[in-house]
Amino acid sequence: MILTVNNLTHAYGDRPVLRGLSFDVERGAAFGILGPNGCGKSTLFRILATLLPPDAGTAVIDGAPLSGRSSAVRRKLGVIFQSSTLDGRLSVEENLIAHGHLYGLSGAPLRARVAALLEDFELAARRADRVSLLSGGLRRRVEIARALLHEPPVLLMDEASSGLDPAARRAMWAQLHRLREERNLTILFTTHLMDEAENATRLLLMSEGRALAEDAPAALKARVGGDVVVFEPAPGLSAEDLAQTLRERFALQAFALDGEARVETANGHRFLAEAMEALPGRIHAAALHRPTLEDVFVRLAGRPLEEQIHV
Ligand SMILES: Nc1ncnc2c1ncn2[C@@H]1O[C@H](COP(=O)(O)OP(=O)(O)OP(=O)(O)O)[C@@H](O)[C@H]1O
Ligand SMILES: [Mg+2]
Repeated sequence: MILTVNNLTHAYGDRPVLRGLSFDVERGAAFGILGPNGCGKSTLFRILATLLPPDAGTAVIDGAPLSGRSSAVRRKLGVIFQSSTLDGRLSVEENLIAHGHLYGLSGAPLRARVAALLEDFELAARRADRVSLLSGGLRRRVEIARALLHEPPVLLMDEASSGLDPAARRAMWAQLHRLREERNLTILFTTHLMDEAENATRLLLMSEGRALAEDAPAALKARVGGDVVVFEPAPGLSAEDLAQTLRERFALQAFALDGEARVETANGHRFLAEAMEALPGRIHAAALHRPTLEDVFVRLAGRPLEEQIHV
């Protein structure tokens, strides 16, 4: 394991944010952490980046313990924070050079390394452009190049693709997966976007500072059996009443969520038709979908991602 996190705990004042979080990351993984706003993702990153000491718990990054010298930990990590830390007034190249100085690089070796990265990341033509003039996608690319300047084995990305449109997000991920393959780079990233979480080789679902589950995205979805059928109750009927009726009538699990009654079932099409026929006048509309990571979240946390915000 290149990264082990054991029982990390942190409170801001008397407000607990991380409540004993543990997980392990294998070398070369794209390890995702999916959780709602305020669940503690950035706090975890600040702790791993040695910017914030935890109240309790330990972490070891490629052999370097958090409790040891922070410079030893930082050398292991390339960090991309939720908000950009590039200097918009400086050029692409100047940003990279300044970062190299922070890591004790200088002179010809630093210039050679920067030139190689600019090539690798297809930024050479933009080397002299001011960062403030770049598109969001290009700026992220500069940040990734910069984070890899000192050749760390682990890349931390907090809200990896915030501010990127879907095409730029896909391009960024294609590049990240290439870096994993070519350099065996390990990526630890957070997101609150379901589709971005699909990039994870392993995904940890986080809620209120704890892990709800951890597995490959496909395996997590397979935990929700078959199809998800969602019924909107007829006017005057509550989702709770409809869910109870479905439970009684069909002897299965149904629960109310967001004003709708939800059922997970192996054969959604058949169930949908049967329920509409068996309960005339009680169902206003019905829909069916394959389980998504959202459904896994709902199943484990009892409510959807957006409803869990604690900011
Ligand atoms: N410096 C701070 N002082 C006090 N409370 C804080 C501080 N930083 C964060 N918090 C609170 O701690 C909780 C967790 O915040 P954190 O930024 O770790 O969440 P997050 O999962 O990264 O959220 P988001 O998805 O919005 O980025 C939130 O309730 C937040 O308001
Ligand atoms: Mg955050």
